[in-house]
Amino acid sequence: MKYINNKFTIEKISVETVAKKFKTPAYCYSYSKLKENVENFKKNFKSFAPLICFAIKSNSNINLIKEIKKFGLGADVVSKGELMAAIKAGINPKKIVFSGVGKTNDEINYAIDKKILLINAESISEIKEIEKIAKRKNKRIQIGIRLNPNIDAKTLSQISTGKKENKFGVNNKTFFEIIKYCKYSKYIDLKCLSVHIGSQILDHKPYEKTLKIIEKILEKTNHNFEFIDLGGGMGISYSDKSKKLSYVKYNIAIKKFLKRNKLKVIFEPGRSIVGNIGFLVSKITYIKKSEKKNFIILDAAMNDLMRPALYGAVHKILPSIKKSKNSKKPCEFVGPICESTDKFTLIKNFQELNEKDLIVICDVGAYGMSLSSNYNIRPKPVEILIKGSKIKVIKKRQMYKDLI
Ligand code: LLP
Repeated sequence: MKYINNKFTIEKISVETVAKKFKTPAYCYSYSKLKENVENFKKNFKSFAPLICFAIKSNSNINLIKEIKKFGLGADVVSKGELMAAIKAGINPKKIVFSGVGKTNDEINYAIDKKILLINAESISEIKEIEKIAKRKNKRIQIGIRLNPNIDAKTLSQISTGKKENKFGVNNKTFFEIIKYCKYSKYIDLKCLSVHIGSQILDHKPYEKTLKIIEKILEKTNHNFEFIDLGGGMGISYSDKSKKLSYVKYNIAIKKFLKRNKLKVIFEPGRSIVGNIGFLVSKITYIKKSEKKNFIILDAAMNDLMRPALYGAVHKILPSIKKSKNSKKPCEFVGPICESTDKFTLIKNFQELNEKDLIVICDVGAYGMSLSSNYNIRPKPVEILIKGSKIKVIKKRQMYKDLI
């Protein structure tokens, strides 16, 4: 995106045009940014050609998944719904991995019937459940075990998953017990060791540490794994001042690991593929002046974009038309919902704004629409994909009749 003649433009479409055609709030995605992200991701790790399984939870729009599939990516799913979406989008089941701590009998049945690459199990009970179903179907099922490496990913506590107090994965002791158990199972084929230590990680060191821990564990077992699934978690820059994850250093650490351990690598990136491709266009309904700040009341709310309310996440907000005059007071961008957490961010020096102006909330491609809800019976926004000067509606705005 850039400003062309002072107008915020995504590829070749100004957000003014988007708002005129589709109303607001509207989620807009840039196709060329998506392509660039996928190509960069592949390039960063090209020496060992990993299987890249896009984490569907970050953006579950079927039409967007279809585009991602065209780049050859597989999928990481965490529910039957996500698995159905990945298959509907045409992703080859042999490129699908199923993660999650609580897969139900119905979900495991479905995953087995669809012949996906791996079910990444997270407990002994789950493995026994998979085994029971596999026995009934008389099939041998490929699984992974998710290890909890007890690593601090140095990210927000709400999205950290690799510490021992988190519910995810199994500890070393259980890991070895599971290897032993699987050795004698006719129906379980233990193929993969998986980890996912958290999300929005900007420091390569927790990844390095995790690889070291895995290496030590592999040394202690003579089980022949075929895959190592390193999960996702690669962070993006939500602000201009943000630190950047060093893919170079992460790549070096993995290559070093692979020299001693001949394994195929799987990644499960979500945010790093779609985070910065998305923009939420919103219109200012009212401006309410108070003593110390102006409340900029938007037509987008926490139900459309949960991240600020849920994690205190800060997304950059930009005006749709650049003006040189600054607002005299700080601007707090808020939604109309009756909750004090329904606010996006407070900006000290923003340009002067008027009611009915448009603003753009940036980097909402991951965990934006996929985390949205109908709280307050608010219909979900339209989603559009912009490719050069072409606009495609990839999901229609919900209508009141869908909800009431
Ligand atoms: N694999 C597993 C097993 C995961 O649990 C996740 C994310 C991913 C892959 C993808 O992680 P990514 O590459 O997108 O960081 N709603 C939060 C993020 C929650 C992440 C949950 N798991 C947010 O808005 O920041």
